[in-house]
Amino acid sequence: MGKSNNTNKTEYQECVISAPSSTANLGPGYDVFGLGLDALEDIVRLKIMEKPEDNLNNIKIKIKGEGSKSIPTDPDHNSSGKVAKRIIADYNLHKYDFIIEIEKNIPPGYGMGSSAASAVATAVAFNNIFKLEINDIELLNYAAEGEIASAGVKHYDNIAGSFFGDFVIVRRFPKIEFIKIKPPKDLTLVVCVPLIEVPKMKTEVARKVLPKEVPLKKMVQNLSNACTIVAGFFNNDIQMICNGIDDCIIEPARQKLIPGFEQLKESSLQAGALAFAISGAGPSTIAFLNSKKKGSRVSNTMKETYGKLNIGCKTFICNPSNGAKTISIK
Ligand code: HSE
Repeated sequence: MGKSNNTNKTEYQECVISAPSSTANLGPGYDVFGLGLDALEDIVRLKIMEKPEDNLNNIKIKIKGEGSKSIPTDPDHNSSGKVAKRIIADYNLHKYDFIIEIEKNIPPGYGMGSSAASAVATAVAFNNIFKLEINDIELLNYAAEGEIASAGVKHYDNIAGSFFGDFVIVRRFPKIEFIKIKPPKDLTLVVCVPLIEVPKMKTEVARKVLPKEVPLKKMVQNLSNACTIVAGFFNNDIQMICNGIDDCIIEPARQKLIPGFEQLKESSLQAGALAFAISGAGPSTIAFLNSKKKGSRVSNTMKETYGKLNIGCKTFICNPSNGAKTISIK
């Protein structure tokens, strides 16, 4: 890639970036559809200090906020740390020590794109502070390194939703491409996060339960639904988007990992949701609506449903978001 360190920093500098929560898959679009959500955002403050010897970097990760105790601070096992290490190696940034302070607002491990948001914010912070001029595709490739910390593999759907905001289609083969579509302005989402314990590397666990092969009939069904979603976004037609949110491959395999899934789906649809899906790899779920006014009814129904099962939950009524933002650089 012909990367070189043409930077010339002499003193302490810092850059602060925010990146929003996201949902992935939207039913049939496994690993392909991402949607930025304005429910929450992670904030990453990257501090760099030049040091005399051009040798091993010190990367210190400090995390505060939502679920921070469950997140490893070892850079090899942290989504921001993985992104940082890769960029440092590729751009020969060995003359610096780094502090990455993460303000975690997005609960980690619940399917709201928490690791993606921190990874995106970290990649953008490095790009900005060192003026690396990394293009969007390569930048998302770095951010996707961070997903290995929770999913065991790179996947780009949450990353793309968090970086660009809006609705994003991820094309992987033969090369990576991101196709963005502005969502209808009234599209409203209610995300329900069950307060249950989630396994470490939750996404990896949730990927392992998926079938390795898919019958042609199911493939056709999901493909037609995915196309309907895309057509709905292009036509600004919320009902059409919601008609496509029906997944006969991933949802049946994963729903057993989500307590009360059937009841939650049924009651949310009865309360006015136009569609209902697992948010990313779960265990959060997401209801789709055509107006914010109806959001509280669905949200209350979700809480009641989980209440009857003695499971606590948090809900977020939200809209599609803008992408990652630079808050400050100095
Ligand atoms: N596409 C990913 C998965 C999203 O479903 O495993 C994880 O948030």
